[in-house]
Amino acid sequence: MNKFKKTILITGGAGFIGSHLVRLFVNKYPKYKIVNLDKLTYAGNLANLKDIENNSNYEFVKADIVDEDLIQKLFDEYGFDGVIHLAAESHVDRSISNPTEFIYANIVGTVNLLNAARFIWQDNLKNKLFYHISTDEVYGSLGEKGFFVETTPYDPRSPYSASKASSDHLVRAYYHTFKLPVVISNCSNNYGGYQFPEKLIPLFINNIKHKKPLPVYGKGENIRDWLYVEDHAKAIDLIYHKGNIGETYNIGGNNEWKNLELIKKLCRIMDKKLNRPEGTSANLITYVKDRAGHDLRYAIDSSKLQNELGWKPSLQFEEGLEKTVDWYLSNEQWLDNVTSGAYQKYYKEQYVKR
Ligand code: NAD
Ligand code: TYD
Repeated sequence: MNKFKKTILITGGAGFIGSHLVRLFVNKYPKYKIVNLDKLTYAGNLANLKDIENNSNYEFVKADIVDEDLIQKLFDEYGFDGVIHLAAESHVDRSISNPTEFIYANIVGTVNLLNAARFIWQDNLKNKLFYHISTDEVYGSLGEKGFFVETTPYDPRSPYSASKASSDHLVRAYYHTFKLPVVISNCSNNYGGYQFPEKLIPLFINNIKHKKPLPVYGKGENIRDWLYVEDHAKAIDLIYHKGNIGETYNIGGNNEWKNLELIKKLCRIMDKKLNRPEGTSANLITYVKDRAGHDLRYAIDSSKLQNELGWKPSLQFEEGLEKTVDWYLSNEQWLDNVTSGAYQKYYKEQYVKR
């Protein structure tokens, strides 16, 4: 007899957001069995979950969501009651140099999970849920004014956002066509510990630490809306348990920053933490060729989630950014491990070749 109330599959749980979500669910819900399925690409790292790896309600399964037969077999074997799907190729720059990888992982991988869920739940959809984690980038790029709401028409402009948009459409298609119980959330840029140092904030923290140039794309005028990763995980928990089937919820920090302003703020924090004279880190700022098709501005209106489900971000940006810097500075081993090996090759190709 299964001693757990529910078995929940979290895909991509050894990556950045997924590892925070797995930790939250494993600790908060001892009656749920949490199965973390991950291929462990360059972005997935079991060290992210060292603290909970021996918990009795946790299990890790190494698998590729693109492998249709294996995914179907795992759904048959575990009989998941719920799926929270985060596994994806997630970095825009990599989607520019290798779009095809994104089509397989983000589109084909999602369809394989949808098919497997549909198959095992076909006779009883009660209390089942397929929760798809998506991004605000599917809505495209904003001008100086306005916000993304749940009904903003999709207008993805990078191979990454196009692949995520495509997976969102497929999830909605399975809801309408097959009545699969689904929910989707689209979140703004996350930051916090355990983020792979290819994304802006951890990349720049690592470079400042090593006194390496800080490669700012274009003029640094692009704007992102930043949310602390644990606030995203809490929103996912709330939507998983209280969200309405078939609905979409936007999640955002109401916290817009021009890249250059954010970078200057980060430089000031790092100078203080590293006991370097003020201005040392800002001197590392180097303007490089802009990202192709670089979206100007993302900004989320999360009032639906706030008004209907009572969510709000818990941290102010200053506090979150300090916490994040502290995390990277006190987890040197983690940073050194993930930036050894293949990372060096990636870095050379992405930045030195320009
Ligand atoms: P990440 O790159 O840190 O982690 C992705 C994880 O997915 C890794 O552990 C990787 O090994 C795994 N994975 C990739 N391909 C796989 C495959 N074929 N089979 C099984 N596992 C595979 O990404 P993240 O930043 O944690 O993002 C997680 C999800 O949240 C993604 O779906 C992303 O689109 C979405 N999202 C991210 C952000 C953000 O700011 N990072 C914002 C909004 C939405
Ligand atoms: P990123 O963290 O890659 O997230 P996304 O593109 O998905 O929003 O980038 C955040 C912003 O920082 C984006 O406008 C691109 C910019 N950026 C740089 O200027 N230099 C860099 O080296 C990186 C990785 C990003």
